[in-house]
Amino acid sequence: MSESLSRRIIEEIEQCLVEGYQRRGLPSAIEEAGRRLNPTRRINAHTLNRIRELYSLAPDWSLYKPPAETTGVVPASVAPVIVVNPTYNVSRAPARGAKTKTLIAAIGDVHDGPSIPDKSRLLWAGRLVKDIKPDIVIQDGDYFTLDSVSRFAAPGTLEGKEAPFWKDDMASGKEAVNAFEEGRGGYEVDKHCCLGNHEDRYASQIGRQPWALDALKDTPHTILGDRGWTYSPYGEFYFPVGGRGTGFVHVPLNRMGKPFGGKFAENQIGNESTFDVVFGHTHRPLVKPFPKLNNEIIKVVNLGCFLPDGHVEPYARHTLHGWEYGMYMITLLGGRISKADWIPMAELEERYG
Ligand SMILES: [Fe+2]
Repeated sequence: MSESLSRRIIEEIEQCLVEGYQRRGLPSAIEEAGRRLNPTRRINAHTLNRIRELYSLAPDWSLYKPPAETTGVVPASVAPVIVVNPTYNVSRAPARGAKTKTLIAAIGDVHDGPSIPDKSRLLWAGRLVKDIKPDIVIQDGDYFTLDSVSRFAAPGTLEGKEAPFWKDDMASGKEAVNAFEEGRGGYEVDKHCCLGNHEDRYASQIGRQPWALDALKDTPHTILGDRGWTYSPYGEFYFPVGGRGTGFVHVPLNRMGKPFGGKFAENQIGNESTFDVVFGHTHRPLVKPFPKLNNEIIKVVNLGCFLPDGHVEPYARHTLHGWEYGMYMITLLGGRISKADWIPMAELEERYG
């Protein structure tokens, strides 16, 4: 990024602060500045970190002036970004009208890694997005397998001997995310990733060795952030259409902090939840309604997996895994699931390969 563009970004953010947009408001000063400048790259906390590193420039946050009068109205066209902490960017679209339709391209566990060099499935997904033009793309976590930081791949073990290096995991991840970008061919769309337990491998590794963070050039967060993706932490629900209508998460966590599991994980989730849930993790797609006593119906969707058709990871080989390969187009009506259409991987290849 050039110094002149960096200065323009900082100036615009400061102008927004003066006009009453807060650092973490709805929309934030950063988001509003991005909307005004319309740069090819989305501005977020990561952008500001880069600008600070490259040119030692940063907005003067003290310039914020509260507006004389606020209406509390958020323009519907703006999807604000709330910076929860320096690590996670969580985009929350403002609530839309009760009858508003939102089309979501929902992609389950991709499990990218150097052992799967073919990234064409992501190219096809990008082409589908360009073709069908959803409002939002949501990837439900385990985008990156990250075998390089698996606790099962300790030094001295066979798994450790076969594990890739971190740089190989990152090179592969970039290729996969870039393939999706190539496929979408410039069609602008909000993209969000609900990070999974495999991305959490990196978080727990860094938790044990925080000094290593400074040495890493690329991380799953920079790969996603550099390509305009927002992301939320493992286990946290992401609600793409304000309120509590439908929550997306890699997998809901139970009272013990463990993923709901077992053959009928969705039954426990449907019984416990008070809103529609879309999750992944088990690689077994389904759409299931859970009627409640007040005549309300909670829907639970499992996204299956987005591995190459028929690919089974080594740990599940020779088991009764039941994995299926493909993605969903989900229509929300007033934020609730109205329709979920499964697109098998073979059909995706036929249409966009
Ligand atoms: Fe998972």
